[in-house]
Amino acid sequence: MAKGFYVSKIVAFVGIFFAIAAVATIIALAVVYANEKSNNKAENGGGTTTTTTTSGPTKTTSVKPTTPTPNEIWDQYRLQGFLSPQHYDIDLRPVLVKNTEGLYVFHGESTAHFKCIKATDYVIIHSKKLNHTSKVVRDENNVAIEIIEDFSVEKTNYLVLRLKEPLVVLKNYKLHTTFKGELADDLAGFYRSEYVEDGVTKIIATTQMQAPDARKAFPCFDEPALKATFSIIIRHKPENVALSNMNITDVYTEMWNDEAWNVTTFEKTPKMSTYLVAFIVSEFDYVSNDTGLFPFARYASESRMWKRSSGAGTPERSVRPHRNTCNRTLRSGVLAPELRFHMPDSDGQQISVTVHNKATVEI
Ligand SMILES: *[C@@H]1O[C@H](CO)[C@@H](O)[C@H](O)[C@H]1NC(C)=O
Ligand SMILES: *[C@@H]1O[C@H](CO)[C@@H](O)[C@H](O)[C@H]1NC(C)=O
Ligand SMILES: *[C@@H]1O[C@H](CO)[C@@H](O)[C@H](O)[C@H]1NC(C)=O
Ligand SMILES: *[C@@H]1O[C@H](CO)[C@@H](O)[C@H](O)[C@H]1NC(C)=O
Ligand SMILES: *[C@@H]1O[C@H](CO)[C@@H](O)[C@H](O)[C@H]1NC(C)=O
Repeated sequence: MAKGFYVSKIVAFVGIFFAIAAVATIIALAVVYANEKSNNKAENGGGTTTTTTTSGPTKTTSVKPTTPTPNEIWDQYRLQGFLSPQHYDIDLRPVLVKNTEGLYVFHGESTAHFKCIKATDYVIIHSKKLNHTSKVVRDENNVAIEIIEDFSVEKTNYLVLRLKEPLVVLKNYKLHTTFKGELADDLAGFYRSEYVEDGVTKIIATTQMQAPDARKAFPCFDEPALKATFSIIIRHKPENVALSNMNITDVYTEMWNDEAWNVTTFEKTPKMSTYLVAFIVSEFDYVSNDTGLFPFARYASESRMWKRSSGAGTPERSVRPHRNTCNRTLRSGVLAPELRFHMPDSDGQQISVTVHNKATVEI
């Protein structure tokens, strides 16, 4: 009995010894693993990592990037809050035929009105794939402020202007630019969409500002929180119609390159984000539809059903953009279902428009 007990005690001790040894090994391995893991993590965060195996223990070597980490304000993807946009005047002329270089382009002119929030020598504004032909910064008294350096930063999509004198906090300024952009078939910014009707290829110029791509249509402070009002003018051939978020206030005809062009002016929008800006130039025309089709159109004066002018107005041949309308009985709130135009269907017969989301607009 006693012997049996003694033997089992030894067994017990041996068992405990091995158990402790096993636990110690597990802990040791876990510690080694954790160290390795945190080393790797630190190295991955720090730059390029190369692992070299030499005879003996494995060594990891971190190779620091040779170029310094970019830290200029224009290297930051987010705007740094120096300037606050108030209003944009946007004037665009999409040309729906190829130019001599075989490109579809649009000519643009815009004035971004902004307030200085933090003193700065720079105007840094989003601009993507726009070729700027002129840039002028003016103060509240319309006096031009000399630009001593300007450049584009492709990676962060900025147009950077260095001014001769710093902007003063709480003063208002404006940046006027003229530019040219490509109406590319890329579903981004101000882009081109094509459909075939009776064997003829038709071109539509339209917008998809989300992603964010308003900066590809006009220079802007392209972040959703940076809301402003927008006054939009679209120049187009008289056989086309221009639509935008707001009602048309004026249409007149001008001559451009010996051709008649219509200049369509839209009402100023409520204060809203750049990605909600939308416009389209196409052969579609519209008919009114006051049935309250769209849930948020009730307080706007009308809903419209857009159809191709040559079409019969049947639903299959119609396009219904939902204008960003406001509930004018609210100071701020709901309401601007996003205006989104989609590509024509494969048969080229339809453009569908979805009420995409509810955006907050301030009235
Ligand atoms: C803008 O300039 C670049 C470089 O000169 C050129 O390749 C591009 O075609 C221009 N874009 C337009 C729309 O003219
Ligand atoms: C073009 O402008 C003329 C006025 O100059 C107007 O009568 C016509 O309706 C306009 N066309 C379109 C499509 O807006
Ligand atoms: C207006 O839209 C409703 C719903 O789609 C439709 O039933 C009605 O026929 C339309 N009215 C006109 C005048 O197009
Ligand atoms: C517009 O405002 C009125 C009054 O506040 C409210 O009753 C109504 O529901 C609002 N409409 C929408 C579409 O939000
Ligand atoms: C839009 O235009 C229509 C006439 O086409 C008008 O009845 C309506 O009041 C206008 N809407 C706004 C918000 O001004």
